[in-house]
Amino acid sequence: MFKEVFKMEISYLRISVTDKCNLKCFYCRPDNMEFIPHEEILRYEEIARLVKAMTKYGLKKVRITGGEPLVRPQIENLVYLLRQIPEIQDIGMTTNGITLAHHAEKLKKAGLNRLNISIDSLKPELFYQITKGRLEDVLEGIKVSKKLGFDPIKINAVIIKGLNDNEALDFVEFGIEYGVEIRFIEMMPLGQGYIKWEKDMVRPLEEIKTKIEEKYGSLIPSFSVGSGAARVYEIPKYKAKIGFITPISNPFCDGCSKLRLTPEGKIKLCLRTDEEIPIKEVLRNGTDEDLDKMLKKILIEKEISNLKIQKSSYAFSDCVRVMTSIGG
Ligand code: 5AD
Repeated sequence: MFKEVFKMEISYLRISVTDKCNLKCFYCRPDNMEFIPHEEILRYEEIARLVKAMTKYGLKKVRITGGEPLVRPQIENLVYLLRQIPEIQDIGMTTNGITLAHHAEKLKKAGLNRLNISIDSLKPELFYQITKGRLEDVLEGIKVSKKLGFDPIKINAVIIKGLNDNEALDFVEFGIEYGVEIRFIEMMPLGQGYIKWEKDMVRPLEEIKTKIEEKYGSLIPSFSVGSGAARVYEIPKYKAKIGFITPISNPFCDGCSKLRLTPEGKIKLCLRTDEEIPIKEVLRNGTDEDLDKMLKKILIEKEISNLKIQKSSYAFSDCVRVMTSIGG
């Protein structure tokens, strides 16, 4: 009965499988983070049950994230379970890449299609300063994944004014050399890392695009599989793809039908607000009918949330959940 009014569609689910991470990026994690107790975390079978139920509403594409998804034991088992759901065409993972070299083959065998890897600096010392991790490990992970045939591999670089915004051209060169897509991301005020977000940390990506065009000529609008919120361009001479994700300078909320699942089983309707709907109880103890009823409620709430956000001119209002427990 709501079909005429509401879209009733889920295009994409991002599944955060853990709030733990083996890095400590200053903008992402608070110092004194308390982790979700093990028994509160959804089991893989529960996640797969939810994904299957969501296919009724058009879900075809999922992404596994964290925290850092590779710190959760046997994460390839989740990939495998999701791969058994025929409607799911695309399974991606966003990882920091630190242990990827050891996991990539198992993930590929289990049926993972695509990889996004976060790198905020190509200078080992700055990379360490931002993340407390070793860039070398990530580069090794990329090489191994490339060899295994993951394609495309996308690199996420969160651009922070005065810190890594002078590396834009280095990232582009890196993309050409490694055969990976670079996606620049404006830093969002999500929860609190141990350093708080401020407006002047944001470098509008239009400026970065101009810089790239000064060197490489006009970027041609392009497309990339699963590009979601990114505006994607190509440098024709190198067939290199560059994406820009601009939540601050140019938000992309219209028609969003993306949902997020938190590690402890709540559906997060939107990154910009703290609206969450608990779904663990029904996943653990409910019938298929209970679950479907819940999904209908979620879809309606999502539409209402979209309308509210449009009215509030896309303000990042009151999000307190830190990124390391949402997963980008
Ligand atoms: N703003 C933008 N991107 C962020 N990420 C984490 N925190 C933020 C933030 N405040 C990115 C990570 C990773 C992805 C999962 O989300 O760098 O690429």
